[in-house]
Amino acid sequence: MGIDNQIYNRLGANWWDETSPLNVLHGSFTPGRFAYFLAVLARTGRRTAGARALDVGCGGGFMAEEFARLGCRVIGIDPSPVSITTARQHAESSGLKIEYAVAAGERLPLGSESFEIAYCCDVLEHVSNLDLVIKETARVLKPGGIYLFDTINRTTASKLLAIKVVQDWRLTRLVDTQLHSWEMFIKPTELEETLRRHGLRLGEITGLGPRSNKAALLWNFIQARRGRITFGRLSHLMDVGEVKDTAVSYLGYATKAA
Ligand SMILES: C[S@@+](CC[C@H](N)C(=O)[O-])C[C@H]1O[C@@H](n2cnc3c(N)ncnc32)[C@H](O)[C@@H]1O
Repeated sequence: MGIDNQIYNRLGANWWDETSPLNVLHGSFTPGRFAYFLAVLARTGRRTAGARALDVGCGGGFMAEEFARLGCRVIGIDPSPVSITTARQHAESSGLKIEYAVAAGERLPLGSESFEIAYCCDVLEHVSNLDLVIKETARVLKPGGIYLFDTINRTTASKLLAIKVVQDWRLTRLVDTQLHSWEMFIKPTELEETLRRHGLRLGEITGLGPRSNKAALLWNFIQARRGRITFGRLSHLMDVGEVKDTAVSYLGYATKAA
């Protein structure tokens, strides 16, 4: 069975519902990733108020809403129409002005050199053509623009956590489908090479992962599977954030030459 990206249409109405498996990306992933991105933006002297920011593969809009609150003018794109409808409705009900469109990262319906910031969270390991997605992102970034990302490494550790625990093992899996395909995970060296091919120079790569105790982590997956805690609670308990080890997930940034 290949990767099941249709899950974002089947479950896409419920991104913001803590009982939905998709909500795992919200609890501690969203603040963990956003804290790192904020630090990078500050460290690299970026202006965020009024900056145009593109969210490639925005899902239900978790990260888009964070960037909008920061004062960015955000456009989120995603091939899942159900997710885009949810993201749009949630932004409206939160009083946030975010533009959303149904589109794939391989073909962005956007003008060249039009964004100061582009970011892509937990998406690169889902796309059918990584090279094209990076090429398109580089095209729409302004010279000097910054690209922020996180994705999953292709290692034995990621096979254990992201494949076995999250989707294979009956007692721990989040969903009964193939959220990910291990072969589509991306080694940092492969990503760096792809970025370079399209004029994006890697600034840094660092680890992203759960900071909770490993035994507690497994136990909490079992509890979520049994319906004893919500997926939102599971995410909080994982305490995801920047870690030294890049063996499972990693985040980082790259810049387009000025
Ligand atoms: C794991 S979710 C991440 C959602 C969101 N970025 C977040 O972190 O909350 C993966 C998302 O990638 C989207 N996706 C799949 N293929 C894509 C493509 N070719 N281009 C852009 N997004 C894609 C899916 O529809 C889904 O919303």
